[in-house]
Amino acid sequence: MNQSLPNGLQVQFAELVATRTGLHISPHDLAKLQKIIAGRMKCLQLSDARAYYEILARDGAENRQEWAEFTGLLTTGESYFFRDKGQFALLRNHILPEIINRNQPRRSLRIWSAGCSTGEEPYSLAILVTELLPEQKNWQIFILGTDLNTAAIEKARRGTYSVWSFRGVHEDLKTRYFHPSHQQWELDARIRSLVHFRPGNLFQDSFPSRSSGIHDLDLIVCRNVFIYFDQQARSVVLQKFCQSLNDEGYLLTGHGEVRGPQPRNLHAKRFPESVIYQSGERMVAGSANHPTLSPNLTRARAPARGTWSPSSRAAGFPPQLTKRASPAQEVPTPQTALQEAEQLVQRENYRLALAKLEGLIHQEPRNLSALTLSAQAHASLGDYDEATRRCRQAMAADSLAVTPYYLLAHILEHQGDREAVKTLFKKILYLDPTFTPAYLELGALYDREGDTDRARKMRAIALDFLKRMPPQTVVNAYGAMTAGELTAYVEKMVDEKRALEP
Ligand SMILES: C[S@@+](CC[C@H](N)C(=O)[O-])C[C@H]1O[C@@H](n2cnc3c(N)ncnc32)[C@H](O)[C@@H]1O
Repeated sequence: MNQSLPNGLQVQFAELVATRTGLHISPHDLAKLQKIIAGRMKCLQLSDARAYYEILARDGAENRQEWAEFTGLLTTGESYFFRDKGQFALLRNHILPEIINRNQPRRSLRIWSAGCSTGEEPYSLAILVTELLPEQKNWQIFILGTDLNTAAIEKARRGTYSVWSFRGVHEDLKTRYFHPSHQQWELDARIRSLVHFRPGNLFQDSFPSRSSGIHDLDLIVCRNVFIYFDQQARSVVLQKFCQSLNDEGYLLTGHGEVRGPQPRNLHAKRFPESVIYQSGERMVAGSANHPTLSPNLTRARAPARGTWSPSSRAAGFPPQLTKRASPAQEVPTPQTALQEAEQLVQRENYRLALAKLEGLIHQEPRNLSALTLSAQAHASLGDYDEATRRCRQAMAADSLAVTPYYLLAHILEHQGDREAVKTLFKKILYLDPTFTPAYLELGALYDREGDTDRARKMRAIALDFLKRMPPQTVVNAYGAMTAGELTAYVEKMVDEKRALEP
């Protein structure tokens, strides 16, 4: 399909998507929608977009498979372990201990990761639960992960992840719960056995429901999903969440994702790390929209300087002080703007980081760091087209810098373009022959293609470079692993492979 869809049909597709999934297709997304439709029509050998629309619009099991394919392309499954350290700290230090304490008499724990993508989120929750409740024998633990995207659910069930899923995860934690397997990391069976996965449509499915286990939940975690919904879908799903929680159960969403009216018996509780919603008939002092802090938390975030602004926090700002700027301070220097954007990216507040970076890039269109950071933020939001565009601008700004090539290689790998990825890694090695991550990742690609000789050669070169580095040198590309740790890891991998050779 080369020509564009007629406007009326575009709107019909967008409405159908909204009715079935709650996903909001903005005018900005129409070109992407059109591309996806064209791709599916090609696969199904259809020449008429109306015929494709009819297939999707039918009811029943026959089109379920096609919806699975279609929605898998529409949504972004970006996820990684312990994504948003603040929210996980809140769960570890306050919310889960409180729930565990409350549930001691009945010894049961019921958690749902709604919109879990490839499983990193519910598995992170299972790890937290294991750490907080090492003696699980007498407890009934139910952790559920559901997602619209059936391919993501299949991957979640496999429990095997690439290094990309461990951004920011402490090495200790990774090696405690995962073991290397074919250049990837496989989660321990005991953690995997705690989590059940199932496809599910938050907008269309009916819950609470006894048959699906979605009822009387202690905690629902639904992060980075509401951002795709329109207001109506958001309030429908919020209402169902509310009915699926037990009294005093919690709902954790992404920062600032709950906007507009909230269900009457869902109350916002504000912690320094995040807002979390608690179900219950009683009205919490301070009211749902202006919750009060417990005194100790108030102390925790009331240092002498600056003004913490609750309204900015609710809009998704990071848990930091917003300093009142004097008029002379209002325009930050490029360096300050970049540092602020870096901090926002670290706190996963990508949209705000991007807003800052936009201004900076406008001022300095060839600022390599700003362009690369912008690419990283777009990639983290799953906007790969924009991330790719920024990477290319960064490459044009400094054709010798390796980082934009490395980032672009990961974006293309995510999109399955293996040949382009190989070309980029080779280009990186041309620019910097000592860049060991490129050898290791090329090695992994060759392994997957069955080219074991080349894979072995790549690992040998990487080991050679790694051993020449002081062991404490940090290799940032691997979540700040040291050269010594990486050497041990690669040597172990080489040994395992050798043992498998005929
Ligand atoms: C960006 S991922 C978030 C993954 C995880 N919650 C996290 O924050 O790391 C968004 C996920 O929401 C899922 N999703 C979108 N609409 C959905 C719906 N109506 N029902 C269930 N899942 C949905 C997508 O398939 C995608 O995997």
